[in-house]
Amino acid sequence: MERINQVWEKAIPVSEEEIISLVREFDTPLLVISKEKLLHNYRAFQEFFPGIEIFYAVKANPHPLVIRTLKEAGSSFDVASLQEIELVLSHGVPPERMIFANTIKRKKGLRYARETGVDLMTYDNEEELKKIALIYPEARLLVRIKTPSNGARANLSYKFGAEPDMAPELLFQAQRMGLKPIGISFHVGSPCLNVDNYLYSLQKVREIIEKVTGEIPISIIDIGGGFPLDIYGEGEEGSLEVFSRAIVPHLQQFLGEGYRVIAEPGRVIVGSAAFLVTKVIGKALRSGVRWYYLDDGIYGTFSAIPFDKATFSFFPLRESKEEFPAVLAGPTCDSLDVVAENVLLPPLELDDLIVVPDIGAYSWASATNFNGFERAQVVMI
Ligand SMILES: Cc1ncc(COP(=O)(O)O)c(C=O)c1O
Repeated sequence: MERINQVWEKAIPVSEEEIISLVREFDTPLLVISKEKLLHNYRAFQEFFPGIEIFYAVKANPHPLVIRTLKEAGSSFDVASLQEIELVLSHGVPPERMIFANTIKRKKGLRYARETGVDLMTYDNEEELKKIALIYPEARLLVRIKTPSNGARANLSYKFGAEPDMAPELLFQAQRMGLKPIGISFHVGSPCLNVDNYLYSLQKVREIIEKVTGEIPISIIDIGGGFPLDIYGEGEEGSLEVFSRAIVPHLQQFLGEGYRVIAEPGRVIVGSAAFLVTKVIGKALRSGVRWYYLDDGIYGTFSAIPFDKATFSFFPLRESKEEFPAVLAGPTCDSLDVVAENVLLPPLELDDLIVVPDIGAYSWASATNFNGFERAQVVMI
């Protein structure tokens, strides 16, 4: 119980009574975003990476309340599509506070970026340069390089990124086409649990700059996202604090030489800022195993499980001395919709509530309304 209390205190910023009253007001499934935690994470990033401009990765959680809060805190935004540009603009964010950080852009996305003035963007291949030359030749371009993704759950250099050796030529090519190459970007994978990925990438950035010096005026270095969920401490999986100690000295060198250094954190800003409250809507004993059916599943907020390979902790608001291994399943008719197996839980009843912390990133964002089940309602406290 003490362990549970400690985890609860760290991860869930409200009491059980407050959760029950939120559910009375809003029903479940309910994604509760703590404004205080969101701002705390944002400020911790600023503190641990001084001088680096934050472009929050909208894809991690595009809820309007998140965008509005971060805009007010002074954040800029990493957008990946026409719709994300539209969303961020609708909150009054000026176009110069955005980077179109998708190396493969739809033509209509590019046209919209030109119409609205979102002129900073990434690319990693020649075909993209041709598209940009045709639609938005005034855009300022960052070449994105492939990096090692060792230890990251999602390898973001599989589908994206030019070989670092090819980057100088891609920069020269942009210049020959009359475009404006001005920077270098990378993404080390998400979440990245190996700080060496950043250090290797920064070394590659340095080498590329040396190769183009005097010909291409590199002014922006974009270190992407991938930062771990934990902010403090020496945890096995790394923390922002540990990453900062290793990475900042290298970044200070770039800053000292007058480069503008930007980052695109998503998970570390919003991941621990939200918890889910879901309800038991059914129960069964199948082959001697307890099954509890929840009103949220892998087609909903738990889409983080298939898409982000995430795992979660489950805190029922019911106490008991006895605990049994159980299966937690979602509400849809699909057999794939199983949230977790072998979870130790007290015997639960219909309408019991389960609280799931650290579920703010890549969860609600990728939820669907498959089978007609609506996405979890979102509230900010
Ligand atoms: C281009 C880009 N930037 C930033 C991010 C955010 O990464 P993270 O949430 O790991 O910080 C992603 C995640 O997919 C991405 O693709």
